[in-house]
Amino acid sequence: MAPPIPLIFLLLLFLPFSKPDLQSDKTALLAFKTAVGKSLPWNASLLVCQWQGVHCESNRVTSVRLPGVGLMGPIPLSTVGNLTQLRTLSLRFNALTGQLPSDLARCTDLRNLYLQGNHFSGEIPPFIFTLQNLIRLNLAGNNFSGQISPDFNKLTRLGTLYLENNQLDGQIPDLKLSFLEQFNVSFNQLNGSIPLDLRRHSSDAFNGNSLCGMPLIPCPGEENPSKKKLSGGAIAGIAVGSAVAVLLILIILIFLCRRKSIRKTRSVESAALPKPAMDDLGGPIEKPTAAMADRENGVAPMVEMGKKGGGGDTIVNHGKKLVFFGNSRGFDLEDLLRASAEVLGKGTFGTAFKAVLEVGAVVAVKRLKEVGVEEKEFREKIEAVGSVDHENIVPLRAYYFSKDEKLLVYDYMPMGSLSALLHGNRGAGRTPLNWEARSGIALGVAHALEYLHRRGPTVSHGNIKSSNILLTKSYEARVSDFGLAQLAAPTSTPNRIAGYRAPEVTDPRRVSQKADIYSFGVLLLELLTGKAPTHTLLNEDGVDLPRWVQSVVRDEWTAEVFDLELLRYQTVEEEMVQLLQLAIDCATQYPDKRPSMSDVVQRIEELRSTSLLPQELDQSHYLIGNANGGSSRMMNSVDGSGPPPHPTTLLD
Ligand SMILES: *[C@@H]1O[C@H](CO)[C@@H](O)[C@H](O)[C@H]1NC(C)=O
Ligand SMILES: *[C@@H]1O[C@H](CO)[C@@H](O)[C@H](O)[C@H]1NC(C)=O
Ligand SMILES: *[C@@H]1O[C@H](CO)[C@@H](O)[C@H](O)[C@H]1NC(C)=O
Ligand SMILES: *[C@@H]1O[C@H](CO)[C@@H](O)[C@H](O)[C@H]1NC(C)=O
Repeated sequence: MAPPIPLIFLLLLFLPFSKPDLQSDKTALLAFKTAVGKSLPWNASLLVCQWQGVHCESNRVTSVRLPGVGLMGPIPLSTVGNLTQLRTLSLRFNALTGQLPSDLARCTDLRNLYLQGNHFSGEIPPFIFTLQNLIRLNLAGNNFSGQISPDFNKLTRLGTLYLENNQLDGQIPDLKLSFLEQFNVSFNQLNGSIPLDLRRHSSDAFNGNSLCGMPLIPCPGEENPSKKKLSGGAIAGIAVGSAVAVLLILIILIFLCRRKSIRKTRSVESAALPKPAMDDLGGPIEKPTAAMADRENGVAPMVEMGKKGGGGDTIVNHGKKLVFFGNSRGFDLEDLLRASAEVLGKGTFGTAFKAVLEVGAVVAVKRLKEVGVEEKEFREKIEAVGSVDHENIVPLRAYYFSKDEKLLVYDYMPMGSLSALLHGNRGAGRTPLNWEARSGIALGVAHALEYLHRRGPTVSHGNIKSSNILLTKSYEARVSDFGLAQLAAPTSTPNRIAGYRAPEVTDPRRVSQKADIYSFGVLLLELLTGKAPTHTLLNEDGVDLPRWVQSVVRDEWTAEVFDLELLRYQTVEEEMVQLLQLAIDCATQYPDKRPSMSDVVQRIEELRSTSLLPQELDQSHYLIGNANGGSSRMMNSVDGSGPPPHPTTLLD
């Protein structure tokens, strides 16, 4: 006979397991109606998912939007707190009072919580900081009191935090939320100084308190803010300024130290290069210059190219000449070194300069640092780069190789890089980059990569990132830096590209085509979200852009990831979602699952052909000002009145 089983086990075994389901969601909502919304037109004999303001997915309530429907009183426990799959709760502009129900802590999937315009009171409840998925939190216009907790830092995905018009006091904690774009604490009773990370927000985010520090009045003892902390912009300005100065001195020194050798070989060169420009080569040298004064003062030459050989544009025995591709001659090394130059930026593989030649032509010169290959290999690889001919790739016009100096000469792109355009000057006066431009840039880059990948199974770009995508005046993409990754020294650690690098890449000099496609996927995400992947390097948790997007985009909740600038073009949301899907496919972890570049080109062409119908090319529609442009779509996404993710939503 079997030993008797304790009754408790049997009871547990047959206990009806009450898993939360649609029925429990319905019970919770009916209790909510009874407590605070007697006039809600919910019909208990209909499906809960058909009720006004209620939306379901996978047979659970995921969204409740009841703005301005006369809800009144305190929300009891076991109402909205039982909707454990809830992602959006919008109860704004009602007359709700008391504290938030503490069991809302169970709704860990909450992304959007809009409670503005009620009479909630007491401290901001600590359970809020356990809702790790929150992206938009609006508690403005209530009667919340107490301090702003530093625990807001736990909500790492927060993009919107609106706390204005409450009774909050004390100091603002040091919030370091890398995705926080919308922030407002105005009209509370806050005092003290504004934390550094929040000073990028405009002054009307802080008005109506006793706060000090940028963007408001300086704090006592901080009268001269410029002395204490330089802004990022100022630092960059100084860096560029000094780089320009160093470069000018450098160029003049090179020039001076070359003077002797040029004179020696001049007759030979003149014979080889019957160009009139060479005749007045000596002219400027004789004129007293600032550099001469520098030399007098004992500044030593920093680069000694001059001793290596003469200039000229002929290719002689792989001599130390400026080597041209195609028929783009018209200047020589001397002209180049004499050109007035300014620093365009420091890249992974060296510094880029803009050089204005005396003949008026403008070129971009890239000075490579730490080249890791020998001369023969360098010349072979760079010849391959020079033979590339595609409308979406910045052409390499010429190069110079000597032991001490490696220069690459490209066409100059006056509009600068996509990175600068996307992330620079987000303030007033900015022209938003519209969908047509962004999807066109995506297509241009895709064409360039497809072309490169077709040149051979081992040919890849190796360094796709937004600062390597240059733009023409009509916003067409020109990919730069092709082939340079393979020339880099093993020691150079291009951590700048970390945000774009596929997980399987261990050696940045060996980047497969599939890894290019990953980087391209990250670039697409950057175009769509307006967020820079490097941005995330600041984030200690190391959340990268693909993972961030994937965590936000579950099911159809894609609208949250898009750049607010794009969200005003509601008519292209469908295409934006398609491009987002493509981006996610490209940036998937497993190389084999990534599409090929020709698939990518085809998909972008398809989605663009449906979105760019003539009526949508209306310029006034695309180029309205910025944030205050008052697009209803944008406002919706901000306060949750929303949309779009659910066209069937009735109330909100
Ligand atoms: C609720 O719905 C049922 C079925 O459609 C309908 O017969 C009933 O009249 C509705 N009740 C109210 C109060 O609208
Ligand atoms: C706001 O909250 C305070 C206590 O924190 C209370 O004294 C006051 O009456 C509340 N005001 C309103 C309008 O609810
Ligand atoms: C802020 O105000 C509180 C009282 O409301 C006061 O105790 C505290 O010293 C003030 N802090 C600063 C930095 O002014
Ligand atoms: C912050 O809120 C105040 C009060 O509602 C408003 O006037 C201001 O424009 C808001 N500022 C920002 C940056 O949202």
